[in-house]
Amino acid sequence: MVNGGCIIMAMFWNKRKNSMLVQLLLLSSALLSCINNGNAGVTSPFVRNEWPSVDIPLENEIFAVPKGYNAPQQVHITQGDYDGKAVIISWVTADEPGSNKVQYGLSEGKYDFTAEGTMQNYTFYNYKSGYIHQCLIDDLQYDTKYYYEIGDGDFSRRFWFRTPPQVDPDAPYKFGIIGDLGQTYNSLSTIEHCLETGAQTILFVGDLSYADRYEYHDVGVRWDSWGRFVERSAAYQPWIWSAGNHEIEYFPYMGEVIPFRNYLHRYPTPYPASKSSSPLWYAVRRASAHIIVLSSYSPFVKYTPQWTWLQEELKRVDREKTPWLIVLMHAPIYNSNDAHFMEGESMRVVFESWFCRYKVDIVFAGHVHAYERSYRISNIRYNNASSGASNPVPDKSAPVYITVGDGGNQEGLALRFRDPQPDYSAFREASYGHSTLEIKNRTHALYHWNRNDDGKRVQTDSFMLHNQYWGDNRRRRKLNKNRLHSVLDNLPLSLIL
Ligand SMILES: *[C@@H]1O[C@H](CO)[C@@H](O)[C@H](O)[C@H]1NC(C)=O
Ligand SMILES: *[C@@H]1O[C@H](CO)[C@@H](O)[C@H](O)[C@H]1NC(C)=O
Ligand SMILES: *[C@@H]1O[C@H](CO)[C@@H](O)[C@H](O)[C@H]1NC(C)=O
Ligand SMILES: [Fe+2]
Repeated sequence: MVNGGCIIMAMFWNKRKNSMLVQLLLLSSALLSCINNGNAGVTSPFVRNEWPSVDIPLENEIFAVPKGYNAPQQVHITQGDYDGKAVIISWVTADEPGSNKVQYGLSEGKYDFTAEGTMQNYTFYNYKSGYIHQCLIDDLQYDTKYYYEIGDGDFSRRFWFRTPPQVDPDAPYKFGIIGDLGQTYNSLSTIEHCLETGAQTILFVGDLSYADRYEYHDVGVRWDSWGRFVERSAAYQPWIWSAGNHEIEYFPYMGEVIPFRNYLHRYPTPYPASKSSSPLWYAVRRASAHIIVLSSYSPFVKYTPQWTWLQEELKRVDREKTPWLIVLMHAPIYNSNDAHFMEGESMRVVFESWFCRYKVDIVFAGHVHAYERSYRISNIRYNNASSGASNPVPDKSAPVYITVGDGGNQEGLALRFRDPQPDYSAFREASYGHSTLEIKNRTHALYHWNRNDDGKRVQTDSFMLHNQYWGDNRRRRKLNKNRLHSVLDNLPLSLIL
């Protein structure tokens, strides 16, 4: 038994294409495969109908600049401290610098507090950014809805957000996980579907705007349109940012050679709160989760700042306070798609043994434009050249690895999975979507991958994630055996979840 959760995994297949009988057969084989050591993962037969993967035109209403002189735009928020009592609010004004103030309070239109932020602007080749404001508001109350207002006079704008509950081992919380989003019609479905799920915070696994697909002045323009595009979610739900390769933007032909310049000017992170020296890697605690953000495109080998920081941060994780240990990165460590195959291998060599030693619950990555979930496996033995081992093996200390780089950007889907499906791969499907992780308490979290099915959200790969620290292996196995019986006794399928 590799994955404590796979017993109650259920798959909802496209109703038009698969009969109940097929569903039944597939599910039973998935159940049996769990018993047989987790081999024989599922390659979903679902074929995404090819919507054009093109960026939405700039003149589309989706990217509309808010009306009024110097009205704030591209509003987005992120956690501002280690534990969730602070928020960083960012926005852009186009016409003049304007005010750096955020007014906020507990009811709409009645703002008892004011905070003052900072403003910066920059150029990128011949593009001149707007005035980018960032304001930290702190000493907030936990689990409280705040209303905020930014901008001056008649063209100020109003938003709200909700702080997380106090850090507590049993605090329930719902995360949405999105990767490789871009700004196409598929990207829009992903955001809309994620809003429907009621996810309280978004864990973003890198590759934001795909503005680097443009040249010269248009790169900056597409960063701006993306900021307006995600505002519908990011002004209300904090997005926890991590950087992908599309954020690097190393463009010698334009004289732009400092990596991550657009990204770092626009998407601040609370890195000093976790004693990090870079906004590209950091950690936050939120409700019952400790979230570690890594940078696939910054040095991480032994003795580098990121390596040293992670070593220290893992020691600070207290599973008695935050049972759920979640890692975000861009390039997946386990990936059986032809696209970006093995690109995460160098990070695997450096960090995998720590993930197992510290019993990370789940690692989310993007980069590959398809969905994939692994069993609990590790390949640590391979690090020892004289052991002769080179294949991942079941490892109950290992995290579940999930690739969710299927947000819907203009590069389209990664349609070619390697054949045969490797033993470590539990489920894979090349279509668009996002994930949700709904923490119930210290032992259980309900996970879903939600496919974008022509405008509908379809929960496709689902399972109960058991906590790696609090789960009692022995009791859990017994429980699962009972569940398996009850599952098989209680068909049809629709009853299983
Ligand atoms: C920032 O804005 C000011 C005021 O409009 C302008 O004078 C300055 O050149 C801008 N700086 C950059 C780096 O674009
Ligand atoms: C490496 O593998 C060999 C052979 O299995 C074993 O004797 C040795 O102890 C291992 N070394 C480490 C550091 O794990
Ligand atoms: C934790 O949540 C799971 C799933 O909702 C539930 O079955 C279990 O009883 C809960 N545990 C406790 C101690 O409440
Ligand atoms: Fe990528």
